[in-house]
Amino acid sequence: MSEASPWESTMRIGILGSGLMGGKLGTIFARAGHEVVFSYARSEKKLEKLARDAKGKARSGTPGEAAQNADAVLLAVHWLRFDEVLKEAGNLSGKLVVTCSMPMNEDNTELVVADTSSGAEELAKRIPKARVVAAFGTVPSEVLFGVYEAKRKANRPSLVYCGDDRRGKDLAAGLIRDVGFDPVDAGLLRIARFTEPFTMLVAQLAYERTGGPELAYRFERFGK
Ligand SMILES: NC(=O)c1ccc[n+]([C@@H]2O[C@H](COP(=O)([O-])OP(=O)(O)OC[C@H]3O[C@@H](n4cnc5c(N)ncnc54)[C@H](OP(=O)(O)O)[C@@H]3O)[C@@H](O)[C@H]2O)c1
Repeated sequence: MSEASPWESTMRIGILGSGLMGGKLGTIFARAGHEVVFSYARSEKKLEKLARDAKGKARSGTPGEAAQNADAVLLAVHWLRFDEVLKEAGNLSGKLVVTCSMPMNEDNTELVVADTSSGAEELAKRIPKARVVAAFGTVPSEVLFGVYEAKRKANRPSLVYCGDDRRGKDLAAGLIRDVGFDPVDAGLLRIARFTEPFTMLVAQLAYERTGGPELAYRFERFGK
């Protein structure tokens, strides 16, 4: 991975949680030219199929294998699975850890961390030597392939991200661009206290209102 221009480099990315978000983002990362290891699903066959179908440099593995040689990992599991997957992943010191995960209760109806902290900050406390960036969690999985396919068009949708580590954030911004979004740096990781509830609004619009879940958002600045 080149230090000079991180968003033009190929990264080795471990996917921790290969479900709706991890499966799709891992596939897109592989198609964008990154080396991807899919891990953590209930069936090895599913991971193997994801790797085959991604048609890039993708393979399946355990969370430990996914994390071991990775520059970056994507954490895409339910809040209740954090302990297990982090234990299996092993040492994440120095690595970019992109989390799209939300601190939801078991039936995914409410945030269990909010206001005075966020899921992303609680994660960072558990892995203090990692470069934690919150990204991708503010859009539904259903929109990801559509955004990737439209990425050459003008007016890309926005995607907010936040984190405390400058280099980690630059790398994450590159991945966000690779997927087809316009990255919007929202500030320090504590801003996840705002982005996580914002995700609840996006989910409400995607799943509870008309128009369907292929929904993204775009911020525009007017004036000088
Ligand atoms: N889905 C969305 O649109 C969306 C949007 C924004 C944020 N998020 C957040 O992103 C995170 C991931 O969401 P998701 O929708 O991608 O979840 P998901 O589809 O349920 O994926 C979670 C992954 O974890 C695996 N897993 C669960 N229990 C396991 C176990 N006991 N052993 C091994 N693997 C296990 C699942 O395996 P299987 O593949 O076998 O099920 C799956 O691959 C969550 O924190 C969610 O709140 C989701």
